[in-house]
Amino acid sequence: MGDAWCNAIRLYIPGLIKNLQPDVVIANGENAANGRGITAAHCRNLHSLGVDCITSGNHIWDQDDTAGYIQQTRTLLRPANYPAGAPGNGLYLHEFDARTLAIVNLIGRRFMQPVDDPFDTMSRILDALNTTNGRPHLFVDFHAEAASEKMAFAHRFDGSVSAVIGTHTHVPTADARILPGGTAYMTDVGMTGDYDSIVGIRKDSYLQHLSADPQKQKLIPANRYMTLCGVLVTLAETGRAEKIQPLRLGDSLIPSMPDTRNPVEARGLTD
Ligand SMILES: [Fe+2]
Repeated sequence: MGDAWCNAIRLYIPGLIKNLQPDVVIANGENAANGRGITAAHCRNLHSLGVDCITSGNHIWDQDDTAGYIQQTRTLLRPANYPAGAPGNGLYLHEFDARTLAIVNLIGRRFMQPVDDPFDTMSRILDALNTTNGRPHLFVDFHAEAASEKMAFAHRFDGSVSAVIGTHTHVPTADARILPGGTAYMTDVGMTGDYDSIVGIRKDSYLQHLSADPQKQKLIPANRYMTLCGVLVTLAETGRAEKIQPLRLGDSLIPSMPDTRNPVEARGLTD
């Protein structure tokens, strides 16, 4: 979000990859272009740092070149439940070490714009992946406003997918867990950007936006502090999630509060 994300990922992603050795790195990039959408240059920047797949959401079409670029690449996803005929794809099969991780991007409908039913779309994707031989290794970025819709989706597909991780609110939730069927779940992973803000927007800008004609107020991203939020999910060979661990790097999540984390957490996983 804003430009703070750019500095945060340059600072933290290489160390995270070196220390955690993830098989796959996924980033939601829908606010990469100063809060509004993502360009081909941003995608190349993310890939150069080791990001394998970029998911998105309701801001995917905010930049003029995205509709053209998304048809030339398999690694930038738009929500799979956008209407038929939308450019690009909502599913990417990432192959590594003779294994495959299916990555699915979906968008919710509660307090969001009307789109196709994400539940139906997910069922069709599972049918197409032919899951009769067992659970696929499958990660879902469910981009939605309502916690209830994200949770309902996760429980509906618990045991059929490896992970359902929510995005869009820019606020990390404290409910990361493994559901009974073996699906890793977190209502919202949060944003990478400046948390001394209102969902990544400068406080003065957002307050003006609320008090005046919203159409006339430009929302200005906050870019002062850097915090990276993410989540590390560990899967068994069966595709069942074994562990889910939220990641928060940067000392600016709540700048006015004392840092009460233990020294290991405060230094971050890169140490
Ligand atoms: Fe969004």
